[in-house]
Parts: sequence; structure tokens; C-alpha cells
Amino acid sequence: MNNFFDDKISDRLGGQNFGKSTAIYKFELIKRAKAAARKAHPGVELIDMGVGEPDSPADNIVVKALSEEAGKPGNRWYADNGIPEFQEAAVRYLEKVYGLSGIIPSEHILHGIGSKPILAMLPLCFINPGDILLTTVPGYPVTATYTKYLGGEVFNLSLTESNSFLPDFNLIPAPVLKKARMLYLNYPNNPTGAVANAEFFEHVVAFARKNNIIVINDSAYGALTYDGQKPLSFLSVEGAMEVGMEVHSLSKAFNMTGWRIGFICGNRKAVSAYATVKDNTDSGQFRAIQKAAVLALDHLEITENTAAKYSRRFDMLVNALNEAGFDAKKPKGTFFCYVKAPSGTENGKTFITASEFSEFLIMESLISTVPWDDAGKYIRFSVTFEAENQQKEKAVIDEMEKRLKVLKLKF
Ligand SMILES: Cc1ncc(COP(=O)(O)O)c(C=O)c1O
Repeated sequence: MNNFFDDKISDRLGGQNFGKSTAIYKFELIKRAKAAARKAHPGVELIDMGVGEPDSPADNIVVKALSEEAGKPGNRWYADNGIPEFQEAAVRYLEKVYGLSGIIPSEHILHGIGSKPILAMLPLCFINPGDILLTTVPGYPVTATYTKYLGGEVFNLSLTESNSFLPDFNLIPAPVLKKARMLYLNYPNNPTGAVANAEFFEHVVAFARKNNIIVINDSAYGALTYDGQKPLSFLSVEGAMEVGMEVHSLSKAFNMTGWRIGFICGNRKAVSAYATVKDNTDSGQFRAIQKAAVLALDHLEITENTAAKYSRRFDMLVNALNEAGFDAKKPKGTFFCYVKAPSGTENGKTFITASEFSEFLIMESLISTVPWDDAGKYIRFSVTFEAENQQKEKAVIDEMEKRLKVLKLKF
């Protein structure tokens, strides 16, 4: 039966073809495979290594602050482009965690309802039809999606192990470079777990200046670093504030994914462009959430404790994966371990793609991971699996290792 809306969907969403694609998206495939595996093996517990968010709730002091602030009459209003206390707390945070200085709260900082909407809005500030966004793959696609909505084009830069999962700007063809307007980076990186160093960021600033390109570093995993790796801000290198911005979030560092709070920091004119788009898009995050976030930003030990937990889990995970034949290395940041997918099993099974292997792993062993086939065949294990104490953590990893070994994977 025809639907009144059949001929009314915008071209950017596919027009008449909207909803007719038979392609099944990766995360939907994983969901279906998980459901099928549970049905086929009702007595076996599924080990979920595919989760992209923290396994713990927000810290009690932050929850308490929200419950106190939520009922205060003065907090009920539209928050519009945010409250100064949050901007000031963001500056204190950037100073303490990243050693940044000279940031003016009212000019260089603006909140967002999580970092995702900030990333979605930035192309609205800078992309005209025909402009090119340079982005990295594998990666988080929201900036690319909006660039395409706006009639811009996207050029993918592959992140490969041979280049330490950093993009190689020499591979950009000259005509692309000419039309390139924005460069999107994400360090610490999801899904590779790679971190950038100051030398790379200096190289980015020089590249941006030479080619007249705006830089956005998505720092959603910013403070989650391990083994002496200090959190590093793109904005800490000379000239970065001139050419770019960085997007921060409380989602991962403070276990606050559902709370929806983050912020942008950077060049004052760019932040003001974002403020204009934001003001025309949402009316700000609830003041009570902003005030609870202020408290969180002043309690760095929340992130430090979470990082210590993830670090401990990584040590066990990496060891277990290597015992099962993978070539796993502990990442310096994020909560992801990105490993090459096996080529098959000693029992004659072959995996052409990482997706095939990931599906096999769910169906055969009830271990859920996220596959990436954008630049080589890799799967992502996350240390945010459910386990309420250290004993349970060990039990989960031991069980995973046992199930992996049975498969006799070939690499
Ligand atoms: C790389 C990256 N950036 C941004 C986000 C969005 O985070 P939020 O909108 O919760 O701040 C995510 C979430 O998974 C992510 O992985």
C-alpha cells in the first residue's frame, strides 16, 4: 500500500528509495546474530565484548548533584547556549588534564548535548556544496553523514597499522586537497585504540595552514589513557587554536553516556559559528545536568579510577587474546583493543571478511565483538564488558579464552 510520504522524503535520505535498501547495517547484523545465538544455545552465557559504552553508571556524587539540582526552580529554564559555570569548569578541566592555558570560557568553550550533536553541527558551520571533508576510516561516521546531507563530499583516509593508525596526508590527490575544507580526526581513536603524539599534531597544524583546512579533533576518549601515556590535546600544540577545535565529552570519561553532555573548545570565530547553529537547533542541556557535570569535571579521580579498571582488564584481555593466537597489543587509549581477524580455523573454515569472523564467533562461541573491514580485516574487543568485581572480570576473560582456544584459529 502506498504511504502518503513515499514521494516526500528528501533526496539526501534517498528520496523514493528511502527504506528500500536491503543492506543490513553492521550493528543490526550483530544484534540479529546475538539473538540467534542465544536461541540456539539457551544455557550458554553470551560474552559481550562489543559494547561501545562504559559498564558502570555515573559516580554517586554526580548522581546526587543531579538529584539535588533537578528540583531547584532556577534550573528549569531553557539553558540555550549554556551556563557560564559549565564553561568555567571545562576550562579548569582542560588546564588540569591537558595543561592548556589562555582559554577564555565565554569565547572558546560551548557545551553540547553530547559530542555527537556537536560533530553533526560542525559541517553546517563550514561545508558548502562541493566542499570536501577529509575523515579517517575506520571511524565514527556522524561528521561524514552531515557533510553528505549538505551536498559536500567525503574523502576517506585509511588508518593502517604500518602508519601507527595515523592518516597519511601524502595519499590525498591534489584535486581533493584543493577542495578539502575540513579534516576530522579522532585521537585517542575509536576503534583502533591509537593515540596521537605532539609531533603528529604539529604536522597536522602545518598541513592545515598550508592547505587552508579546518581541523576538528574528536576527543571523546581523551582522558582514558594507560601506562604512563599522558592525555594529549590537539590544542596543546602551537597554532592549533588558530586552525581548529577539539570536541570533548563526559560520556566515556565519566560514565555519563545517557546524560548527554560535552563541549567544544577552540578558535573563537569557529565556536561562535557553532553557537549560531546550535542556537537554531536545540535549547541547551538541562541546567541540572550541566551543574552535575561541573562537579564531575572537578573530580578527575572519577576518570582515573575508571582508567585503572580498564587498564587492569586490558592486561588480562590482551594476554588471553594472544594465548588464542591473536596479535594483540595493549592500546594507549580508549577502551578498545583492535586486532587482526583470523583467516580461518584449522577445521577448514575460511573468513573472507572480519564481519564473517565476527558472526561466526557469536554463533559458534557466543562471544560478541565489532568487526571492521574498512582498512584491513579487524575486530574490536571492548573492556567495558559486564563484570561487577575483579573476580568476575577474571572469570569472563578466562571463559572467553577457553572458548577462543577451542576454535583453533588460523592467522
Ligand atoms: C569516536 C566517538 N566520538 C563521539 C562519540 C559520541 O559520544 P557522545 O555523543 O556520547 O559524547 C562516540 C560514541 O561512541 C565515539 O565513539
